[in-house]
Amino acid sequence: MKKWRCNVCGHIHEGDQPPAECPICGVGPEDFAVEQEPAAKLPVAAKRWKCTVCDYVHEGDHPPDKCPLCGVGPELFVLLLDETRQLTRAAVAEAGQDTAHSALDKISYGLYIVSSIKDNNINGQCCNTVFQVTSKPLRISICLNKNNLTHEYVMASGVFAVSMLGSDQTAAVHRFGYKSGRDTDKFAGVDYIAGQNGCPILTNCLAYVEARVMPEKMVDVGSHTLFIADVTAGRMVANAEALTYSLYRSSKR
Ligand SMILES: Cc1cc2nc3c(=O)[nH]c(=O)nc-3n(C[C@H](O)[C@H](O)[C@H](O)COP(=O)(O)O)c2cc1C
Repeated sequence: MKKWRCNVCGHIHEGDQPPAECPICGVGPEDFAVEQEPAAKLPVAAKRWKCTVCDYVHEGDHPPDKCPLCGVGPELFVLLLDETRQLTRAAVAEAGQDTAHSALDKISYGLYIVSSIKDNNINGQCCNTVFQVTSKPLRISICLNKNNLTHEYVMASGVFAVSMLGSDQTAAVHRFGYKSGRDTDKFAGVDYIAGQNGCPILTNCLAYVEARVMPEKMVDVGSHTLFIADVTAGRMVANAEALTYSLYRSSKR
């Protein structure tokens, strides 16, 4: 015998056909869908916990005591809800920010090195929040944490460069994404060329752009500043596959 779930209130009806009317909320048979086999019959997948600081993903019943990549505690991990479920009006009604975390995990990003300069000192950080805002005028945006040294440099000089990474350049993510320039010289031993605006560009990047922040378009978004900037120069270097966040994550598993 089939099981039918009411899409509005979740009532389960057993029978070959859906009921003429839901006994709980009164909707018709068109609002019933065949209930999927219980998840218990499927192999139970491990829970996945995402570090909200560095995006490391941990599998297990609980978050780790300490993030192996950036060192923060379990309180900064969120549970990624991976279950497949039918989208019903009830599921939409009960959704909140907790269930949005795993949804946001499906947004695709590239990975880049954003670099800047201040008083002849250079620094750079890994950044996924780079995107083109408009083509005419040619503008991009980046979103940087206010605690980052790169943020301090961009605020001071108003200029930055973005080096686009190739799919095999995960080492650059480790170098620029997990340590601060306050503690180490991240460009020591790295081949780079100064751009027209003085910001360092990785010589082995796929492509790069240089940009100048529009001072009236710096948006304080709490922990981060969203910088919108005019692209002042840029060039393709190698036409190879670009590094995406999802490629990077799969390389860590
Ligand atoms: C994959 C990845 C993506 C990141 N994306 C961003 C980002 O978009 N914005 C940001 O502020 N920090 C981002 N970070 C974190 C910074 O790269 C990191 O905090 C860095 O150590 C800051 O360095 P700094 O203090 O030398 O500027 C990312 C880190 C990783 C590993």
